[in-house]
Amino acid sequence: MRLDKALASSGYGTRTEVKALISKGLVSVAGTVVKDPGYKINDDQLDLITVAGESAQIKENIYLVFNKPDGVLTAMEDKRLPHVGQFIPANLKNRKISPVGRLDFHTTGLLILTNDGELSHRLTSPNYGISKVYEVTYEGESLSGMQKEEAAKGITLTDMDKPVKLHPSVLDIKEGNRALLTLTEGKTHEVRRIFAHWERPVITLKRVSLGTLTLEEDSLEGSLRELTSSEVEDLKRLTGLIKEQTQEDDKQ
Ligand code: URA
Repeated sequence: MRLDKALASSGYGTRTEVKALISKGLVSVAGTVVKDPGYKINDDQLDLITVAGESAQIKENIYLVFNKPDGVLTAMEDKRLPHVGQFIPANLKNRKISPVGRLDFHTTGLLILTNDGELSHRLTSPNYGISKVYEVTYEGESLSGMQKEEAAKGITLTDMDKPVKLHPSVLDIKEGNRALLTLTEGKTHEVRRIFAHWERPVITLKRVSLGTLTLEEDSLEGSLRELTSSEVEDLKRLTGLIKEQTQEDDKQ
């Protein structure tokens, strides 16, 4: 992690303010003054940083994956309803974690929580086209190739004042009124609206994957764990926050 980023994300000021602190020679790492804001600190050095002679409390970004149960609000706080914040351990409460995107109260499944605002933005913004896969059970007749084609072309929803043309999506029809739908944008209630458009009311809706991350088959509703560093790297690579490893890099 860059020194300026580590200090900025730990509350020592904006990136510009932190750069000024560093260039004034007020920051040292393992006893040596470092004047390069881009200096790369490794995990062993996190406890060895000082700012103006005082030991710095470096807070690294946190990445969690939560299997959201039914009947839980995607919010860190709520006075009345069960909410995601209630599942976050006390030691992580002051780390400014928030959910990446939103699942409806009755939608279950994969929800990432992080304090990495840039990753969160890239995973949710339609500009990055990150895939989200939803498992749906629905009422009514089985879906067919007709809906599959319509999804692939981009469905036009007409449930609001103005028609809305959606990005192309992939519909995978399974046995027993079950389907997987892969979307690359995150319009409000998008899956439920698509199924309503097909006159197939949703019975259950579960997000099973987001980008490179997939909910484990045996994951229990309500479970929460930290992402591994390779899972975080995969998400960052997918969203362009770290560059692809090239054959040239491999040679070095
Ligand atoms: N689409 C929906 O309709 N609901 C969700 O929770 C997520 C996607």
